Amino acid sequence: MGDPYPLTPVDVEPVQTKHRTIKTAIPHPASIPLLERLRELEPACMEGQPPILWDHGQGASIFDAWGNKWIDFTSGVLITNAGHGRKEMIDAVTKQAQTGLLTSYCFPTQARIRFVEALQKLAPRPDDKVMLLSTGSEANELSIKLARENARRLGKSNPVFVTFANAFHGRTLGSQRAGGIPPLKEWIGYADEHFVNVPFPDGGVRSRPEDNDFSAFEAALHRQGISPDRVCGVMTETYQGGNSTFAPVEYMQKLRVWCDHHKAVLVTDEVQAGFGRTGKFWGFEHYGIKPDLIACGKGVSGAMPLSAVIGRRDLMDQFGPGSMTSTHSGNPICCASALAHLELVLKENLTERAAHLGVVFQGKLDAIKDRFPDVILARHGKGLVASLHCVKPGSREPDPHLAWTVVGLAVQAGLLLFAPVGFGGASVKLCPPLVIPEDALTEGLEVLEAAFAHALEGQAVVK
Ligand SMILES: Cc1ncc(COP(=O)(O)O)c(C=O)c1O
Repeated sequence: MGDPYPLTPVDVEPVQTKHRTIKTAIPHPASIPLLERLRELEPACMEGQPPILWDHGQGASIFDAWGNKWIDFTSGVLITNAGHGRKEMIDAVTKQAQTGLLTSYCFPTQARIRFVEALQKLAPRPDDKVMLLSTGSEANELSIKLARENARRLGKSNPVFVTFANAFHGRTLGSQRAGGIPPLKEWIGYADEHFVNVPFPDGGVRSRPEDNDFSAFEAALHRQGISPDRVCGVMTETYQGGNSTFAPVEYMQKLRVWCDHHKAVLVTDEVQAGFGRTGKFWGFEHYGIKPDLIACGKGVSGAMPLSAVIGRRDLMDQFGPGSMTSTHSGNPICCASALAHLELVLKENLTERAAHLGVVFQGKLDAIKDRFPDVILARHGKGLVASLHCVKPGSREPDPHLAWTVVGLAVQAGLLLFAPVGFGGASVKLCPPLVIPEDALTEGLEVLEAAFAHALEGQAVVK
């Protein structure tokens, strides 16, 4: 596929509703030289999103500088759970910045103490510890490190770390290695037998029916010649981000028991799922399990570059003073903002809100799927995250062209979506801020439905 979103202004139907304004060509002609300049300065990997020059945000709305306004179904990339432009967060950043303390390395600050304390209260065990970092990848890397060190302490020989097919855990070396998407790992150029993938039980999107039973986990290890006592850790996204797919509850409960039995550390990557997104505060609550380590990113701060690992005291305390650090760990501005965000998530009951609005959201998406059954294979998700998997008519073959077209048309009509992900690059992912007003949510879904209808115009699949 060529450039899916060329830098060419398209004259579109003007839109003026309570939640959307589109009154110029999209992308705006004046934005073109700026976007072109960015393309000259940055590597090509930074392209790929619909070419909207973000100017400001408020709640569940994103604005450009020319009066266009979108309903945001991206939350950045599942970051802004409490919405964009929250005064409480801006005030917290401003107040902290005005102290003159913009950074502190690992020296203690009040901002860090307050945020770590608030996070710790949400941990699965009362004596869990919290370490702050900067990115989701870094949180996953640290989780891998803690699991491997634990294996060393236990005297496990030749330990392996197990993750799932199609998983995404980040783009740094270790986190990418742990991921389960082979093309993303080709650049590494060599295999590492100490990382092993097993099939993800996604209920049939890409898994075989038999992969959804826990026996498939053990069988996959056996097939790869791994005896269970070599496994130092198992890490899974609580739902797989690419397709918003959850594992069966029974599978995850058996995995918990299996990890305990074999002294393997169970890590849930909550980078997308945590902080209310799925209608539970933590995604793992859907399974009724407690992980040993939780890797947090994105919604942990609601805006700022901050991540965290929360977990079992004995695992977290394995490295001595000064031997497991990160330069921006617990940056005071990030901590102040993240605390204000977390307080909003809790005070405004945004987890319950995601669960409640999720019923409307997932129900309407099912209706859209039912309207276009030949080209939408499935809808997956919980709470306020979902994916629609686009396929070539009447087949299971992913149709990235349709997905990209739908995203492009939605953006031109005032619904902000990011580029398709997952399942053959053909999954339209939808994840509004948890504060989205209900009428904005339903309006956005109507725009999405119209985008499908428009994309399929003239084709027999429109029902
Ligand atoms: C599930 C999951 N884990 C880890 C990451 C990596 O986070 P970051 O981009 O902050 O390194 C992502 C990012 O999209 C993610 O979705």
